[in-house]
Amino acid sequence: MNYRLDNDLVRFIFYYLPHYYIFTDLKSFGKMKILDLDFRPYIREKEIQHTVKKLSKKLSREYTDLNPLFLVILNGAFIFAADLFRELKITAEVSFIKLSSYQETTTSGRVRELIGLNNSIFNRNLIILEDIIDTGLTLQHTMDALQDLGAASIEVVTLFMKPDSYKKRIEVKYIGFEIPNDFVVGYGMDYQGYGRNLKDVYIQK
Ligand code: IMP
Ligand code: MG
Repeated sequence: MNYRLDNDLVRFIFYYLPHYYIFTDLKSFGKMKILDLDFRPYIREKEIQHTVKKLSKKLSREYTDLNPLFLVILNGAFIFAADLFRELKITAEVSFIKLSSYQETTTSGRVRELIGLNNSIFNRNLIILEDIIDTGLTLQHTMDALQDLGAASIEVVTLFMKPDSYKKRIEVKYIGFEIPNDFVVGYGMDYQGYGRNLKDVYIQK
């Protein structure tokens, strides 16, 4: 009798329990629809957090005593920025910037203005934070706007990068994940304003 009980207990612990967790895990990480688009799970929260911590550690090492100023490009990078910033082990400042929508000008055609830059960046070590870099146009506009303001240095950190789509020559020194040229949502990234709150990242099917 005692023997049987032990056997059942062993079977429960080593066989049924893990299966139960795997099953509930899969259930909570299934396919998803936002408006008209279908998505499937792509990168899990745990892996994202691991990568964000690694990036933050690296920045902490390389910017010791440099008091960097993080410039977060809104809207998409706000969640990445919050997680990365809290993991920093050095003194640093953070400011949130945004590119205005296109404005027509008579001379140079269409330009985008940088809004929200309240800190002086003269002599500062700047770290631009992006959620995702696709063609690089947003980054180019941001860099153009920061030029001639006397920053000591400017580096770029992005959590996601689509290398096949990137068309600019600006070096992106810190990259979390290189991904294919597909559309993703979650962890701050959106489809028509939705999906930013998802903890995992999903890719379009
Ligand atoms: P880029 O200007 O072409 O490099 O695109 C950069 C911006 O477009 C990002 O900051 C995002 O806001 C948006 N974006 C690019 N790819 C994606 C994606 O796959 N999902 C969600 N937003 C994206
Ligand atoms: Mg963005």
